[in-house]
Amino acid sequence: MEAGFRELKTQGSREVHESLVLDKAGNRIPVEIRSFAVYDGSRFLRTFSIVRDIREVKNLQNQLIHSSRLAAIGEISACIAHDITNPLAVIKLYLDLLQTQLQDLAAHDPAGAAGLDDSVNNLAKSAGKIEKLCLHLREFSRSRETTMEAVDLRGVINDALFMVSNKLDRGGVAVTKQFPEDLPLVRGNASQLEQVFMNLFSNACDAMQGRTPSLLSINLVPVFGGNRADGGGVEVRVTDNGSGMPATVRDQMFLPFFTTKPKGEGTGLGLTISRNIIRRHGGEIRGESEEGKGTVFHVTLPPWTPQAGPE
Ligand SMILES: Nc1ncnc2c1ncn2[C@@H]1O[C@H](COP(=O)(O)OP(=O)(O)O)[C@@H](O)[C@H]1O
Ligand SMILES: [Mg+2]
Repeated sequence: MEAGFRELKTQGSREVHESLVLDKAGNRIPVEIRSFAVYDGSRFLRTFSIVRDIREVKNLQNQLIHSSRLAAIGEISACIAHDITNPLAVIKLYLDLLQTQLQDLAAHDPAGAAGLDDSVNNLAKSAGKIEKLCLHLREFSRSRETTMEAVDLRGVINDALFMVSNKLDRGGVAVTKQFPEDLPLVRGNASQLEQVFMNLFSNACDAMQGRTPSLLSINLVPVFGGNRADGGGVEVRVTDNGSGMPATVRDQMFLPFFTTKPKGEGTGLGLTISRNIIRRHGGEIRGESEEGKGTVFHVTLPPWTPQAGPE
């Protein structure tokens, strides 16, 4: 401050500069300060400053940086997925070869072949998983168009679970699914819906960190008769026994960039994007939660009606 005043007295004004001030509660507020010196003739009288609260500007700047970084990450992962595909094809080719060679070996040394067979099968399984992940990542980043088709939510949810399976495994999450046999199809875009459920599962997993047991349950329920005429469709309920949300969080959870997670972990965009997607589908998403009591998200989607046809 003293250095600033000295400069001000000698030069008459100072460059606009940014600083932090504390509010009553002790929060740091970013401000922009413009200062001028007031003279009586050549005698310095006092200083005059305009202090502007620039919280909003700062927030917007940070959000912009964050979202462009996210977009970059999306593009990079699609590229990486693409680059992995070629060497992976070679690995799979040799695995096939190994498998045929093992069949030959089995004729001479059945015990030895059986031991190797297990290892090779495990390798093939993992390679298959990598392939599926890459395929998904590429589709995911490519799918900007929103063509609506008849979608079986069971497949969408299984794919979404597959995409976050590593995270769920690491968190020791037990997943239960209740899928009825005769579920109506919904009208939707599978890869966008997958994005919604991936986010819900991933949020649930975050909220259940450190909880034993961590329970995630997914229920699919036809609403009414499951046809459009009676206002029905399919409801997906995603229930976790995690931390739950206090009212302040619950009220803000759908706001863009609202997150309670540490920097670098949460983007605060998951639920915002999810709600946009669900609304574009003509559906609804809402969350019920109480602090310490876990959370249930309800996603309702309109049914597929053949006469409406694909878009
Ligand atoms: N299942 C859940 N349990 C508890 N809190 C949740 C749950 N889902 C979302 N939230 C809260 O809503 C916030 C916003 O979620 P989201 O938009 O997905 O952004 P992010 O996951 O990046 O924080 C989270 O930071 C969290 O506080
Ligand atoms: Mg999220």
